[in-house]
Amino acid sequence: MNRATHIAIIMDGNGRWAELRGEKRVKGHEAGAKVVRSITEYCAAHKEVQRLTLYAFSTENWKRPKVEVEFLMKLLEKYLKSELENYLKNNIRFEPIGDIRAFSSSLQKTIKDVAEKSAHCDGLIQSLALNYGAHDEMLRAINKIKKADEDITEAMLYNALDCKDSVDLLIRTGGDHRLSNFLLWQSAYAELFFTDTLWPDFSVKELEKMLNNFTKIERKFGGLK
Ligand code: FPP
Repeated sequence: MNRATHIAIIMDGNGRWAELRGEKRVKGHEAGAKVVRSITEYCAAHKEVQRLTLYAFSTENWKRPKVEVEFLMKLLEKYLKSELENYLKNNIRFEPIGDIRAFSSSLQKTIKDVAEKSAHCDGLIQSLALNYGAHDEMLRAINKIKKADEDITEAMLYNALDCKDSVDLLIRTGGDHRLSNFLLWQSAYAELFFTDTLWPDFSVKELEKMLNNFTKIERKFGGLK
């Protein structure tokens, strides 16, 4: 039976969820943060899941209106500060991926602080993709390992990436069917699940249904069986 040891999620639909309620888009992000918590807690209790990678802010999200970007930065900082206790209680290790050097020094400090304080936890790894883009990740990795006379191997590249684990199950909420520059290397053999559900409405029940369907898929990784 398939084991979904690494689940990755593109959390889309926050803005539309808010607009459907006549609210400002940022209200959708606030509601989305609550779902991040409930899905993370569910995965932490589900022993098979070892890593949950969530696309929280992409290298392209800087193009959004300044007020929305600033709101997301504040929300992230608030979330991480309030979540530390929960990480420790549930034995969750927080690991950021992406180039966080673009963030304010205060947010960078919070990210590093929460990662350090939860580093001893050996249950679920909750990995937030922050100023993350797969192209940027690959370029940074290649620049780290480039040497004049040596061919780069697959293992060398994997080792230099922010995320070193292949994805088993990749979920995108919000109705679109694209990868949006998320974990492109790691998702080579991921099973892709798309749902029209907007992220703030995504539930543990829907995730359970996906996990159940995932176990029934025959994964061949290019072979015959
Ligand atoms: C996409 O929805 C979502 C984002 C760009 C940000 C994701 C952020 C959260 C889920 C909340 C904060 C996260 C944490 C970890 C505290 P969208 O705004 O593109 O939605 P739309 O497609 O309906 O416009």
